[in-house]
Amino acid sequence: METVVSGIRSTGRLHLGNYFGAIKNFVKMQKGNNCFFFIADYHSLTTHPQPEDLQRNVKQVLVEYLAAGIDPEVSTLYVQSDLPEVAELYLLLNMSAYVGELERSTSFKDKIREQKDNVNAGLLTYPVLMAADIIIHKADKVPVGKDQEQHLEMTRTFSNRFNRMYDIEFFPEPVAYNFGEALVKIPGLDGSGKMGKSEGENNAIYLSDTPEIITKKVMRAVTDAGPTEMNQQMPQEVENLFVIMKTVSSEDTVAHFESLYNNCKIRYGDFKKQLAEDIVKFTNPLREKIEELESDDAYLKKVTKMGAEKARESGRKTVNEVREIIGFGPR
Ligand code: TRP
Repeated sequence: METVVSGIRSTGRLHLGNYFGAIKNFVKMQKGNNCFFFIADYHSLTTHPQPEDLQRNVKQVLVEYLAAGIDPEVSTLYVQSDLPEVAELYLLLNMSAYVGELERSTSFKDKIREQKDNVNAGLLTYPVLMAADIIIHKADKVPVGKDQEQHLEMTRTFSNRFNRMYDIEFFPEPVAYNFGEALVKIPGLDGSGKMGKSEGENNAIYLSDTPEIITKKVMRAVTDAGPTEMNQQMPQEVENLFVIMKTVSSEDTVAHFESLYNNCKIRYGDFKKQLAEDIVKFTNPLREKIEELESDDAYLKKVTKMGAEKARESGRKTVNEVREIIGFGPR
């Protein structure tokens, strides 16, 4: 059985793009793998240090992942800061991470530009903490998107360096979990590309959006003036809506509107109304589950406590061994 680790940003609600892109696969992955999913709240301090937001964000992410189907009895679902051993491993790994290589990371360069007034050391060492997250459980696989590949590469560098420094085969080399065909890319509603990529209010449909909000967003989605020739190629923004429709509507519905488009008879108003209805039908049970979980603090507490215990059992073992390898001796 392989060990899989994935960190979840604690800022930002889940949208349909996350759901079809990653979460659905997380849920499937739970069977047959030893999965650790954690909410990266330490990491969030590099960009979102406001104390009043911290716990609210963590709770939001927790309920949304539970609602989407992460099973805390099957996987280890925990909050990063409930595993203090990761902070120790991070400190130890920092001793052999070079400032030069950290400065060359693309995400660090992006952040320097994005938050000029707060270029903190946590941003610089973000990849070291991420490496600690992964190797603390000796992960084999990490399900990451394109934007995290460089971080995973750095994780391998730090693991190998540790192994070489102490002349021991200790940390495995974690590789990206490849979803292959199963990875569906959901476009946004504003014609610009991936859902959630642009900040626009109407670009993404969140799992927690009410039917009214979903309808409003879909009705405002960007389209063109409509087809003028039979079977003409769809402009990107219209094709995007069809891609979304394919994930939530029946094949018949999709075929119906495709044929209307090809015959220049499509009315975007009707098309969007159907799309909104089908999205609502799809997200409603998830939203209801989210609301139910939100009000069940006792259950959430039970889940995080169980997650923390399982994560610490695994993390403590690794950090004890690391301490011994480095020369500290066990605690
Ligand atoms: N950096 C990841 C992101 O922005 C989140 C993350 C933190 C992570 N630690 C991780 C992902 C460990 C995978 C494994 O999405």
